[in-house]
Amino acid sequence: MQEPPAEPPVEAVGPLLRGVAVLRALSAAPERQLTLGELVRATGLARSTVDRIAATLARTGYLRLDGRSAALAPPLMELGNAYLAAIRLPELLGPLADRLADTLDESVSLAVPDRDGIRFVHQATRRRSLSLSFRIGDLLPAERTAPGPLFAARWSEAEWASWRARRAADPERRGFPAVPPERVGGPARPALEERAVRAAEDGWGLDDQLIEPGLIALAVPVHGPGDVPGGGPGSAPVCALSVVSHTSRHSAAGLREELLPALARTRDAMEDALRDAAAAHGRPGAPGAPGTAAAGGPARTGAWTSASKEELGAGFVESLARGLLVPSAFGAGRAALSLSAVAEATGLARATARRALTTLQHLGYVEAEGRAFRLTPALFDLGYAPLSRLTLAAMAEPHLVDLVARVHDSASTAVLDGADIRYTARAAAARIMTVRISVGTRFPAYATAMGRVLLAGLPPEQRERRLAELTLRPLTPHTVTDRARLAELLDAVAADGRAVVTDELEQGLRSVAVPVRDRDGRVRAAMNVSMHTAGRTLDACLADVLPALRAAADAVEADLRAAGRFAAVAPS
Ligand code: PHB
Repeated sequence: MQEPPAEPPVEAVGPLLRGVAVLRALSAAPERQLTLGELVRATGLARSTVDRIAATLARTGYLRLDGRSAALAPPLMELGNAYLAAIRLPELLGPLADRLADTLDESVSLAVPDRDGIRFVHQATRRRSLSLSFRIGDLLPAERTAPGPLFAARWSEAEWASWRARRAADPERRGFPAVPPERVGGPARPALEERAVRAAEDGWGLDDQLIEPGLIALAVPVHGPGDVPGGGPGSAPVCALSVVSHTSRHSAAGLREELLPALARTRDAMEDALRDAAAAHGRPGAPGAPGTAAAGGPARTGAWTSASKEELGAGFVESLARGLLVPSAFGAGRAALSLSAVAEATGLARATARRALTTLQHLGYVEAEGRAFRLTPALFDLGYAPLSRLTLAAMAEPHLVDLVARVHDSASTAVLDGADIRYTARAAAARIMTVRISVGTRFPAYATAMGRVLLAGLPPEQRERRLAELTLRPLTPHTVTDRARLAELLDAVAADGRAVVTDELEQGLRSVAVPVRDRDGRVRAAMNVSMHTAGRTLDACLADVLPALRAAADAVEADLRAAGRFAAVAPS
């Protein structure tokens, strides 16, 4: 990663520069978290400035404040998502990559050039013996990858010079946290210069264990309709398609002999898909045509930042929040936007939008092409990689902690595991007498509120099949063991969006649960609050606990919408 040049242009927005410095410091921190004091030291900013920036970023949802520490939060991934939506490669080529991975039963990925590195924009992962698995947004040094030589073949002299300068400045490759350090004194490798010349002649690039022993990859370039294959600098392929395997299954030469034909066929289909999309572009009503609303993300505009300023006053740095609106203007069919288009989409004044674009361009997150602006993959540097590794359970945890602070009873998430629910995250209320449950605990699904939410969330045929298979035993005198009655209860849970179970798992115990749904409406987990029946009436539970529980589940769903837009989020 290259640091931005030291001197920002005079019209740059200072608070936006400082806000990005805070996001970058957190992105580089272990666990994407620092205390505010550590942030002061890492950025060189004044404490009062860090406080105001952190409060503003917390309001946008990009950062979570916990007492004195700040952590990046999943909604920040919307910045990288805006780039992915704008380039449309995951949307147009992802399904073809997935099909190739299925056919070959090997991992397949798509990577774009990013300065002197490669950046993954899609992953169809079939990892078996590999210890390493890359995620969307991960940045790799060009010289240690299969796609790198394909992109380097089109580098200008200036780009080669900047690659050499980066290698000299960062001999240990600290700028690439996704890859293990380069082995010093390892086997001699052909230089990137030589591999780039070969790649241009051969039309493919090979990674023979450049990243880790055993890992091999073969890549071919995918050209857009505007590129000139074999053309000089500036007509680089839009992306590279790689197949990744292991030396236990293929030799490097075998990979090329056996898999190159299939890789080339998929590449041809991808180039057709890009040509079709370009031809459809501009036809009114065509998917992704100009004017089509960008998908996903909350519709935040200048009106939202003004309202936040009014509410929060001096604690809210409006110019920072406004600048961070800019990426959301881009999206499917909106890859290259004029200043006016950005101003219109964000609801910002032209002068405000222009200064924000200038600032983001200086930072490397936007590039100008004539009078149009585009997002760059450098946006992934803002927390995307660490956030994309969060499981749903890890995402839920801070929200469970907030929930427990509000309701003073323990809260959890669980998923279905056969006929059981399995706890995936939990925040316990500080009580002497509390139900003994921890992550990994299992209970029969039919007798628990979370189980009923999860069963009710299954597609109808699956729900019926599961229900028919369950062995229903009375765990207390109150457990519902009648299959028809349970089916009715599940219908009610599906209709109400919540389940309450009292005394059925254990006498004296009540649990209220709601579903956590993904962007497609699928129930991915259940969230509950459990309490002693002596502490609260059923009415009090519904009036006081349920709204707080639903709000916590909504917050997890918002995180999941951002994190799950382009990548799979593991349940736990
Ligand atoms: C990957 O998709 O994980 C991948 C691709 C190309 C490489 C190495 C890994 O050279």
